[in-house]
Amino acid sequence: MLYYHKLFNLYSILSLMEIDPIELAKNTEICRNCINIVVGKGNENAKIMFVGEAPGKNEDEQGLPFVGKAGKNLDDMLAKVGLSLDDVYIANILKCRPPENRAPLPDEIKAHTPWLIKQILEIKPKVICSLGNYSTKFFLADGDVDSMDKQPGITSIHGKVKIINFKGLNIKLIPLFHPAAIIYNKSLLSLWEADMGIVKREITQREKVVNEEKQATL
Ligand code: URA
Repeated sequence: MLYYHKLFNLYSILSLMEIDPIELAKNTEICRNCINIVVGKGNENAKIMFVGEAPGKNEDEQGLPFVGKAGKNLDDMLAKVGLSLDDVYIANILKCRPPENRAPLPDEIKAHTPWLIKQILEIKPKVICSLGNYSTKFFLADGDVDSMDKQPGITSIHGKVKIINFKGLNIKLIPLFHPAAIIYNKSLLSLWEADMGIVKREITQREKVVNEEKQATL
């Protein structure tokens, strides 16, 4: 009996490892209907990752995240704190554009985020800036899509650094307003700038620690 039980456990672990996140995402209607699957852009060795919601029309056409108006806002903000695509990696919760830019559905998030998790486990970022509600709630819920709606909204927690353990990685989560929100609500711009100041501070602190560690080993 015990023997069978052990075998069953072993089988479940193996089948979990065998999940192909890419095939899982491709099984969704948005993935079958999009022009491009938008995986990510930037430096895969970066220690800081920005995670948005889903590709829009421009991203779908070009196959790259954040290349439209929201992307221009993000680029400007990164530049203001001295960051470029060489310093960061940018990805989304969904890898395909939902029709009419509608909000991601829970089943789509469930099907697409194993791919995002795979990216995070490969890149091993020290800081994740979650852009907007969906991305922030996904990380706060520890990837449990069904409990995302119980998490606080971006308006109450933007700019508050939270240390999370996500899939075994210790990460500083910095929730930020979605760069598209600034297009429609210009009053968010000053809050966004202040939050990016916090991102800058975290990065500078991290660089200091890394340099001190390097010095100590010399
Ligand atoms: N909005 C997002 O969340 N991601 C993109 O890639 C573009 C717009």
